[in-house]
Amino acid sequence: MEVKVGLFGFGNVGRAVARVLLEKERFFRERYGLSFRVVSISDTSGTVWLPEGIDLSEALLVKENFGKLSAWTNDYEVYNFSPVEAVKEIEADIVIDVTNDKNAHEWHLEALRDGKAVVTSNKPPLAFHYAELTDEAERRGLPYLFEATVMAGTPIIGLLRENLLGDTVRKIKAVLNATTTFILSRMEQGIDFEKAVRQAQELGIAERDPSGDVLGIDAGYKATILHCVAFKPITFDEIAVKGIAEVTVDEVKRALAKGKRIRLVATIEEKNVRVTPEEVSGPLTVSSNENVALIETDLLGELLVKGAGAGLKETASGVVSDLVKASLKLRAG
Ligand code: HSE
Repeated sequence: MEVKVGLFGFGNVGRAVARVLLEKERFFRERYGLSFRVVSISDTSGTVWLPEGIDLSEALLVKENFGKLSAWTNDYEVYNFSPVEAVKEIEADIVIDVTNDKNAHEWHLEALRDGKAVVTSNKPPLAFHYAELTDEAERRGLPYLFEATVMAGTPIIGLLRENLLGDTVRKIKAVLNATTTFILSRMEQGIDFEKAVRQAQELGIAERDPSGDVLGIDAGYKATILHCVAFKPITFDEIAVKGIAEVTVDEVKRALAKGKRIRLVATIEEKNVRVTPEEVSGPLTVSSNENVALIETDLLGELLVKGAGAGLKETASGVVSDLVKASLKLRAG
């Protein structure tokens, strides 16, 4: 089956997704009988139609050489659609959102109303509009999948949404932000907060504006999404968030002397969600790029989910897994 895909966002993650689709084309065909055709690419400068026969690898090359899509000429037609218009105009079965658009819920809803499935790694739509989006998808019988919003491709969303269905989740304790883990690990070596942030930026771990990570907003979005999936829909405004900006090297070292580490920990319970720096030991002591979640349920007891929580191919893993899942659901009808 050929699956037509509209790709929204052609930055680092968008291109990582495109590369996986290209490099593993044969794998998807042989293993699932699926062949993905990216029919359009949209970024902040507009939407580009990829005519049939134009290879996605050419689009990647053009992007690397010319930057924004609006610079594309000749073989490509560029339209200045807003995303809401674009999702209606494109002839796609599935819309992939790998943008950071905070208002993307508007065009996710529009895509669903237009009969298109949605796969997203973009967190704010889920952290603020979970109920509206998942209700709309359910009403339309369309997949709306968001594995890569939390812990990149490490399958915590799938685990909570599609497994453990007889279990009642009691509590989740999790470290969900790789940038703050990197910064706190550097502080354990005596490097002060500002310098650790700069190092994270230099290594491409933190964003140019690292405030979303440092202030706990990124982890807060993820904690909100986990609460929605494990318990019931809430929004980011309802949770308590404290980042790591006030953590000092002294505090980090005092914890270390007790055999503990300070990490930005999300605690997710039915009636209480908070993100705050805490002293941890044992399984929550992740370092580097990892995220971890300790899930406690009535029947299974404790379950530890640990794996990559950031990174380009690691995020593409979650997006592409959802793309396959959505395609198989569409094929099954
Ligand atoms: N900025 C995030 C982190 C990665 O540092 O974990 C994307 O979710």
